[in-house]
Amino acid sequence: MDWNGARVLITGGAGQIGSNLTERLIGMGAEITVADNLWRGKERNLLKNGAPMIDMEQQFHRVDLADKEACETVCKGQDVVIHLADVVAGINFVFGNQYFLFNKNALIDNNMIQSALDAGVSKYVYVGSACSYPADKQAVLDPPPFKEDDVYPALPESAYGWSKLMGEYLCQLAGESGKMETGVLRFHNVYGPRCEMSPEKSQVIPALIRKAIRHPQEEFVVWGSGAQRRAFVYVDDAVDGLVRVVERGMGKGAIQIGPDFSTSIKEVAEHAVAASGRDIEITFDTTKPEGDMDRAADWTKAKDILGWEPTVDVAEGIKRTYAWCDAELKALGNDGPA
Ligand SMILES: NC(=O)c1ccc[n+]([C@@H]2O[C@H](COP(=O)([O-])OP(=O)(O)OC[C@H]3O[C@@H](n4cnc5c(N)ncnc54)[C@H](O)[C@@H]3O)[C@@H](O)[C@H]2O)c1
Repeated sequence: MDWNGARVLITGGAGQIGSNLTERLIGMGAEITVADNLWRGKERNLLKNGAPMIDMEQQFHRVDLADKEACETVCKGQDVVIHLADVVAGINFVFGNQYFLFNKNALIDNNMIQSALDAGVSKYVYVGSACSYPADKQAVLDPPPFKEDDVYPALPESAYGWSKLMGEYLCQLAGESGKMETGVLRFHNVYGPRCEMSPEKSQVIPALIRKAIRHPQEEFVVWGSGAQRRAFVYVDDAVDGLVRVVERGMGKGAIQIGPDFSTSIKEVAEHAVAASGRDIEITFDTTKPEGDMDRAADWTKAKDILGWEPTVDVAEGIKRTYAWCDAELKALGNDGPA
């Protein structure tokens, strides 16, 4: 794959993973178009050193990809589509908006893939989620790291997990139709700079970092017991996976991206406090939802096919994310009292 001059559409490109991917692919010479409705993404994420990475008039489309016509417009003339736009949020939003989330993601994923097929796009990438693994397999502490096929028989805990599994299946079928090459990565919990930090929509690492930065104005409370565990992936490693799947992972089925060990939410909270350099008392609210108990990735397939491996450990990743969040909240004037 020669990225130089390749026309690449990144849906969800104003989001956490998409904006970091945009930066990486521009550095490799690709012509990037971003489509995002800014439901959770931000135009600010497309800045590098204060300047836009792309021409925001020509290469940025603020569109709702649940709308088929919008998908058709943005797919025209693209060589590669990396489809990252979907409704993603923290546990409270996910369980409080199950119908909205499933319906929206199904519309986005169906409209995008059909439009890419109709536009003659040659390579199409979809990203699934570790939330799609069956709830019972994630209900205990220390289960064996999942292999890709462990996702079946399917019984995800949330509508989000179902929607992402349906998206993977759709992508697989489109690939089997022979009209377009497709690639699927299945990410574990991705975190890093350009993340969403708001109380309404943030995921666990940015939420805890925000609480540490804003402490004592905001209480440092961990949702649940803190015993639940996740396999965290630093966003640069997720971007590595995306570049590599286009280069050498098309038509190979779903490939998991994540470490083969998990980190407890309590440890994440401790890393966030350590990054703050302050003495913050950690409290736990066990009335709040915990989600799945534990999961990690057997990443043999990613290593064999993509030559991928995780490179940033969670303590270092949280330190880097904290620094970004701190600067961002200061720039927005939101680091002090509400
Ligand atoms: N972050 C994770 O832990 C994780 C884990 C597994 C899979 N994924 C997947 O990776 C992809 C990117 O996730 P992310 O972490 O960057 O989240 P994100 O929310 O930062 O990025 C998703 C982007 O999609 C956009 N979007 C949502 N609805 C849209 C719509 N109707 N039309 C156009 N744009 C829309 C949002 O505004 C956002 O910018 C998603 O498909 C997500 O399911 C993420």
